[in-house]
Amino acid sequence: MEEMEKIGIVFGDVSSKEIQVTITGIVEEGEFVQVFHQTSGWILGRLERIERKTDLSVEKALLLNAGENIQIQEVMVGTVNIVGYRDSKGILQVPKTPFKAGEPVYRAKDSLIKDVIGIISSKNNGAYIGMLYNHQIPIYLDINYLVQKHVSILAKTGGGKSYLTGVLIEEFIKNGVTTVVIDPHGEYISLKYPAQFSKQMEKFSVTPKGYSDKIVEFSPDTKANPGAKPIKFTLSQLTPREILNLVGLTDYRPYLVPLRKAIDILKSTKGNYSIKDLISQLDKSEDSATVSALINALMTLDEVGIFSEIGTKIDEIVQKGKVSIINMKGVSPDIQEMVVQRLSFALFELRKRDAVPPMMLIIEEAHNFIPQQGKALSSRILRTIASEGRKFGLGLCIISQRPAKVDKNVLSQCNTQIILKVTNPNDLKTIGDSVEGLTRSSLEEIQRLPVGVALVTGANISFPLFVEIRPRETVHGGEGVRVA
Ligand SMILES: Nc1ncnc2c1ncn2[C@@H]1O[C@H](COP(=O)(O)OP(=O)(O)O)[C@@H](O)[C@H]1O
Ligand SMILES: [Mg+2]
Repeated sequence: MEEMEKIGIVFGDVSSKEIQVTITGIVEEGEFVQVFHQTSGWILGRLERIERKTDLSVEKALLLNAGENIQIQEVMVGTVNIVGYRDSKGILQVPKTPFKAGEPVYRAKDSLIKDVIGIISSKNNGAYIGMLYNHQIPIYLDINYLVQKHVSILAKTGGGKSYLTGVLIEEFIKNGVTTVVIDPHGEYISLKYPAQFSKQMEKFSVTPKGYSDKIVEFSPDTKANPGAKPIKFTLSQLTPREILNLVGLTDYRPYLVPLRKAIDILKSTKGNYSIKDLISQLDKSEDSATVSALINALMTLDEVGIFSEIGTKIDEIVQKGKVSIINMKGVSPDIQEMVVQRLSFALFELRKRDAVPPMMLIIEEAHNFIPQQGKALSSRILRTIASEGRKFGLGLCIISQRPAKVDKNVLSQCNTQIILKVTNPNDLKTIGDSVEGLTRSSLEEIQRLPVGVALVTGANISFPLFVEIRPRETVHGGEGVRVA
């Protein structure tokens, strides 16, 4: 049997959930340890906190300060949270009787960690996202689970959300998962290009790779994003109310009736119609003075060029095994919401009829598209997909830097949660409320996470784990522009 590294001894009051350890070895907070339990065998635990206990009283400290020679007695004490063990049926269990004081505590062996936390060793259908923090244990997430049960990726700005999302997309590509990305900043086009080699890649066994043959780019604004194919919608699919919403005329009253009249005429005379048709119809009507604000708004909308008589076909946008990036760089928030609403609606309807492949819909800046307060044009359909999408093989991946501002009902439907550094108290509270099995000390750790380390829970991972995210194979597009 291989030698185990002893790091301390169980002491004091001992329960079955938490133990105190005098620390004699070299260990850090967050590391896994193992302890023998008299009836359950080897048990995995996680060292949550280390404290240095000393006998230096205030009185003695004052004497020390005055220059006297004072001896300080000290001991390192650790608190270990018990994670548990796998029983003979493979179910995660925790001991039901206390541990014994005096038991030695060892650094956990990789084999026990893998067994207890449920890491899949097979690379089949696994998304390789990185290594267990402080260990050389690769972490794979079950791709079917990710797609079927929704994912949330939460962190403050600069916490590494988009970088990690890029890692996930690379894994989706390798596993043939069809993906649509709502990309408000045009960050994901760079998945086409291989990253520069770095030393860090060796540690994670990553090699630079580009995926230009798997990426298709669309944009409602091909002037701002000339590399993209246009995405267009047919105006005739929109109700008068939706049109008014879209052009930002929230007080419908003066416009609804004239607009409805104009649309009815166009429908009966032309069938499909353009914004220009609609404008000239409104111009001709006896209400033209009342609706001048509407006419102006429609002229602005026409300049965006997002409507045409024939819209982009969804089966052109969604391609089996490929990643379709909807690049919305430079597109106004109203149009972005409409694009997300139309596209999500179409994807959901087509998935119900199995007319497009099962897929993952990734939404960056989700607080804008499904806000907790107020409403976006896209709120309703995204809520429907969150609650019903899994039945039809339409997975949702929600990304946000303001978890507290994302619709709670949608967040609660995400069974896999990936959390990077978060410091805002409201956001931490939202996370604490929505992540099962998160200890108070883990919640504290989230505030101090280095960039690139994530807390992952759900999928095949049976309790919250810290994972060091692997380097990207492709260029990360979210890099701030360097001036010098
Ligand atoms: N796993 C990682 N490994 C190395 N660098 C990372 C990692 N994650 C993020 N970074 C760095 O941090 C910066 C911010 O990450 P990004 O994903 O763009 O943040 P945001 O959460 O705002 O989307 C990136 O430009 C990148 O350089
Ligand atoms: Mg980002």
